[in-house]
Amino acid sequence: MKYFPFFLILLLAGSCAEPAGEADAQLLEPAFDLDSLTEVAARQYAKTLETLPDTNRIPRNAHPDGTWNLVKKGNWVSGFYPGVLWHLYALTGDEKWKEAGEAELLKLDSVQFFDYDHDIGFRIFNSFGSALRFTKDSSYVPVIVDAAKTLKTRYRPVTGVIRSWDWHDQWQYPVIIDNMMNLELLFWAARQTGDAEMETIAISHAEHTMDNHFRDDYSTYHVLDYDTLSGSVREKVTFQGYADSSMWARGQAWAIYGFTLTARETGRADFLKQAQSAADIFLKRLPEDGVPYWDFDAPGIPDEPKDASAAAIAASALLELSQLVEAADDQYRYHNAAIALLNALATPEYLAALPQQGLLLHSTGHKPGNSEIDEHIIYADYYFLEALLRLKELQPPTE
Ligand code: GLY
Repeated sequence: MKYFPFFLILLLAGSCAEPAGEADAQLLEPAFDLDSLTEVAARQYAKTLETLPDTNRIPRNAHPDGTWNLVKKGNWVSGFYPGVLWHLYALTGDEKWKEAGEAELLKLDSVQFFDYDHDIGFRIFNSFGSALRFTKDSSYVPVIVDAAKTLKTRYRPVTGVIRSWDWHDQWQYPVIIDNMMNLELLFWAARQTGDAEMETIAISHAEHTMDNHFRDDYSTYHVLDYDTLSGSVREKVTFQGYADSSMWARGQAWAIYGFTLTARETGRADFLKQAQSAADIFLKRLPEDGVPYWDFDAPGIPDEPKDASAAAIAASALLELSQLVEAADDQYRYHNAAIALLNALATPEYLAALPQQGLLLHSTGHKPGNSEIDEHIIYADYYFLEALLRLKELQPPTE
């Protein structure tokens, strides 16, 4: 119910003749019915439960013929499918999703100790973290704490940041903007365990990212390579974007989300400002239908593939951002921008229908690598459902 105060402000603002500084602001209504959209999601994933082969592999992306590409537990996306199931449980209250979510967690045995990249946050916090959040079952806590301890080992004081990848020979110490997402695991574990160093590391990572990963217009670089001796930045490049200088859509969405969560966890105005600036350039550059192309600077626009996942990540982040900003016009602006993104996604163009599986179509994983272009990808559904849940929690009392 933490969202009620915001809504009360908006309701009050709407009832006053001249609400402070925002006489003309209107709350944008969702163009979809939340319950009906939840039913669509449940219908889609009920089919997955019914048809998924009996395997330890985990759904990553759905092909148009209704089959899934399944991956091993070490894949960076392995936390999202369990997270989708847990979000469906939270949205519907139906025990079937809880049982399915519990079964998927078993597939992630020992993943909390996988130390070869930063994605342990995505793998464990979105799966076990969601389970803990929606059940309050403390038996999940040790796994998540162990994951945070593992993530901590990837930090070096000389750079001040957490190393993202180990598998690129051309870089000494690559750090990608996506890495901001994993700070949530550290903030949570610092509170849970009292290990203040985890929070210090998360804040250091965010501060360095704020200083180094942004251009003057607040668009973000994808990959920074740090010098392991001096700690300075050796180069600023891309891996999944169109060009070193371009604004890769999902990277920018990770930046909005990552700085929003860091602002929430720290209460710091500079992180909040950074989240707002990252959001403002993203929203300013959106195309007419409201869903970004895979890279805002892709050369073939408007004939480039979209990235629905970037829209879903940004929508969820913006709903939270609208709760953190103080000015009423900012609250309206970010809330309405989130609704506009969700409205654009909740259309026949973007929603899958059986026999297609998964929920959202038209995401792009790694265009330069010719991988997952204009497809359903599981993390788009995770953040879309998270946004629906945030929206549901925003609902004012009905009486
Ligand atoms: N974190 C990897 C990606 O966004 O594709």
